This record gives sequence, structure tokens and C-alpha cells, in this order.
Amino acid sequence: MAVRQTVARVVRPVVVRGLLAKERLKTGVTFNPLSRQWRDDPVPLFERLREKDPVHYSELIGGWVVSRHEDVDAILRDHHRFSSDPRRGPNADVLAALEVTQSMLNLDPPDHTRTRSLVTQAFTPRAIEGWRERIEAVISDLFAEIGEAAEFDVMECLAVPLPVVVIAEILGVPPSDLPRFKAWSDDIARTLEPSMSAEDGGRAQRARQELGDYFGAIIEARRAEPRDDLITSLVQAEAAGERLTHDELLATLVLLLVAGNETTTNLIGNGTLALLRHPEQQRWLRDHPEQVESAVEELLRFDSPVQINGRTTLVEVEVGGKRIPPQRQVILLQGAANYDPLRWERPHGLDLSRGDKGHLSFGRGIHYCVGAPLARMEAQMLFPRMLARWPNLRLAERDASFRPNVVLRGLERLPVRVD
Ligand code: HEM
Repeated sequence: MAVRQTVARVVRPVVVRGLLAKERLKTGVTFNPLSRQWRDDPVPLFERLREKDPVHYSELIGGWVVSRHEDVDAILRDHHRFSSDPRRGPNADVLAALEVTQSMLNLDPPDHTRTRSLVTQAFTPRAIEGWRERIEAVISDLFAEIGEAAEFDVMECLAVPLPVVVIAEILGVPPSDLPRFKAWSDDIARTLEPSMSAEDGGRAQRARQELGDYFGAIIEARRAEPRDDLITSLVQAEAAGERLTHDELLATLVLLLVAGNETTTNLIGNGTLALLRHPEQQRWLRDHPEQVESAVEELLRFDSPVQINGRTTLVEVEVGGKRIPPQRQVILLQGAANYDPLRWERPHGLDLSRGDKGHLSFGRGIHYCVGAPLARMEAQMLFPRMLARWPNLRLAERDASFRPNVVLRGLERLPVRVD
């Protein structure tokens, strides 16, 4: 064990440095999402990639990295040539042998269409509108818990609890199970990150198992006694025909929990940080709460909660003048596309009045985020209320620390002073 760890500690950095040097020599730029700079502020890295080599071959990951808005947008829409199913990619054999039931996120049509259609029925803007009052009450409860404190952590007190309470209620999970629910969600979300350790992998596998057993028991309970919740509607859809197998139902529930939690938390955290760093924009939103829809779209663009998306080529394709062979990994830098000067005027400026929904933070095409209306509504309700409740909202510490993530960009903590 000790030998393996030493080899990993000493040899891996040397191999990584060698691959990056080769990459720089060939293209004049590197893609290293594990670097410290990526964590702190990836925007300058995006810029270098987009300017020097917008369709870049990464020696490090053995795949292509695409950073222009036009290219990322086109690939996300082109599900015929770019697959979301990892079992059709370079590691197809290993993944097929694992026999894991994939969620809709990792499926292509027709299985994707079938599994997604049931969930979209529950997430229409109209259905989400029905949750408005409840979200209002959750926000009021969270504000009441903060009370008259002069300082608090936005992550701990607002950004983390709001999405988990809301999604648990929509699914129909008892409030007493929320802490377990959140812990499972965090452990599984780690598997999205390339920096995941073997220990993280083990923890995620245990969490999947426990969550599967947990949802399995709730599914049985809803079969026996239906309620007015999302799990009941999915169970009834499963019973009505061959549209969703039991394993697909479980995979869907796990996805809804994981996809909706950390992402929305990061929208609230990154969005609040952007407002705190731009006091004039904060003032503008305080004075124009009716413009919150435009403001939330700009906050999504400015610091995207999901920075990276991925696809696999099914055939040989040409992107930005480069030919990519079939069965290759394509990394889509949504965060970079959101700053592309060919698409945005003054991309570095936070302009809450921009009124432009063209960011790629919720993806595009057939996999466009199912939970977008819900995430939007939570953020649109929270931000104006937060600014009205605390007119002196400001950063309590100079530096904000981001979690060591690559895909899901979000803060560890965000202490603010309000006195
Ligand atoms: C700000 C918050 C959120 C962000 C930034 C976000 C981002 C994304 C992105 C980029 C995708 C596309 C993935 C791809 O193209 O492969 C996606 C898909 C998805 N999201 Fe979200 N999401 C958010 C909130 C939510 C919420 C609240 C839910 C549900 C409660 C949710 C459920 C889903 C599901 C089920 C998919 C898969 C759709 C499919 O594969 O067809 N998301 N999300």
C-alpha cells in the first residue's frame, strides 16, 4: 500500500508534467483541470484555450477539448453524432461489464426519450409554479433560523439547505431523513469529478447501495399506499406499462437527487459571491427586483455551476476545422463558451440587465436540464428576498475558497456580514 502511494505521489506528477509539456509544444497551450488556477479562477485558462486552440487535443485525458460557444452549442444539439452513453466510448468494454443501469443523463434515444418523458411531465414550468408557496415558506424558515446574527455562512444557512429540502418534498421523502439524503447526494456527486480518490469511489458505491435500498423501501410503500408526490407518479408510470423498469426508476430517483442538489447550491453560492463582488450590480437588483429573471440568467452565465460537459463521437466528425475520429471523448467547456467574445459583448462584465438566455449552463438539445425551471424559481425567489432582508450584505472574508472540483464549481463557505 505504502509503495503504491509513493509511486502515485512521485511518478504521477512526472507523467502529468511530461504529457503537458508535449501538449504545449504541439499547440502552445495546455488543458490541466487539476491545476490550482482552474479551481480559483478558470476564466483566464478558458481564454488561452479558446484563442490559441479552440478544438484542442489533450494528451493528459486523451480527448478533445472544445471551448467556443458556437462549437459547444452545436455539439450539444447533435445527439446523432455525439453520444451521451459512456458505454459507446473508449472504455466501452469495462463499463458494459459493470452492468450498471444508466440514468437518462447517460442514455441516447430511444431509451433516453422513454426515461426522460415521464420526468418532464412532473417538471413543467406550470407544475413547478405549484411549488412557489412551499419554496417561499422554506426560505422564510431559513431566514428565521439566521435571525439577527451579524455574520453567517451563506452556504451553510441558505445555499445547501434550500435545494435539498425542496427536492426532498417534491420526491416525497420524510424531512427527518434529510441529513442522510444530503450525505448520500454529496458522496455520489463526487464521482463526477476527475480528482475522485479510491476512497471517494468506495464511499460513492456504498451511498448508491444505501440510497437504492432506501428508495426501494419508499417505492414499495407508495405502491401499497399512493400519495401526491413524484415517487408515486413514477411508480404508477412503471406499473402502467413497460415504460420504466424498476432499476430505471431507481436510477431516475438517484439522478434527480444528485443532479438537483449541488448544482442549485452552487448557483446560489456563486451568484451571491458575484453580487457581493459587484456592489453596483447588487444595488441595481435591490432597486429592480422585478428584473430578477434577467439577473439569474446572467449569474448562471457569469459563474456556471456546471463547468464541463462531455460526449463521445459516434462517427468521424469535423469541429472547427479539425477531424475527430469515432469513439473519442469530447470535453465541452460550458464555462468557456459562456465567456466567448464572439457570442457576448463584454463577457467579463457582470451585467444583470443583459436579458440574454444564450448561456450553456443548463446544456442544450435533448439533455437540456430537466430541473432548470425549478432551479431558476428557487434562485429568482431567494436573491431579491435576501437583498431586501439584509441591506448591508457584504463579504466577511476577502478570499472565497472554492471546492477542489472540476465539473461542479462551487464554494466551500461564504461568510457574510450583515450588520
Ligand atoms: C442551477 C442548477 C442546475 C444546473 C446548472 C444544471 C445543469 C445541468 C446540465 C448542464 C445538464 C445537461 C447534461 C448533459 O447535457 O449531459 C443537466 C441535466 C439534468 N438536470 Fe440539471 N442542473 C441544475 C439543476 C437541476 C435540478 C434542480 C434538477 C432536478 C431536480 C436537475 C435535473 C437534471 C436532470 C434529470 C438532467 C438530465 C437530463 C437528460 O439527460 O435528459 N437539474 N443539468
